[in-house]
Amino acid sequence: MAETESVSSSLIQRFGLQDDDISAVDAVIDGESESVILYRQGLQVRAWLNICPHAGRRLDYAPGRFLRDQGHLVCAAHGASFELNEGRCIAGPCCGAQLRMLRVDESADGTLGFHTATSSD
Ligand code: FES
Repeated sequence: MAETESVSSSLIQRFGLQDDDISAVDAVIDGESESVILYRQGLQVRAWLNICPHAGRRLDYAPGRFLRDQGHLVCAAHGASFELNEGRCIAGPCCGAQLRMLRVDESADGTLGFHTATSSD
């Protein structure tokens, strides 16, 4: 089996997000309250857990406020820089590591739900 998923109880409206903006919401994922990074690019919304792979800290410098440099997301703790496609660290102390991506599902009314996906391989 390639993936398993669990349903979050926290939902947001995609159209409440600004294009090319990074924000954060609190969501319950796998029974745990988590901060989720959201990045909207056009009609697509990407989501990752707000946990840096370097030292496990939040990436924002204040709730929902993120540093950016040359289009990349920069962790406020020690400066790791992440590209916004896959969430891979491209510079800094965890270069090559990746943010944990969440699957984003959208209902007919534009409400978003987040799901974890784990690979068995
Ligand atoms: S915790 Fe993010 S760079 Fe160290």
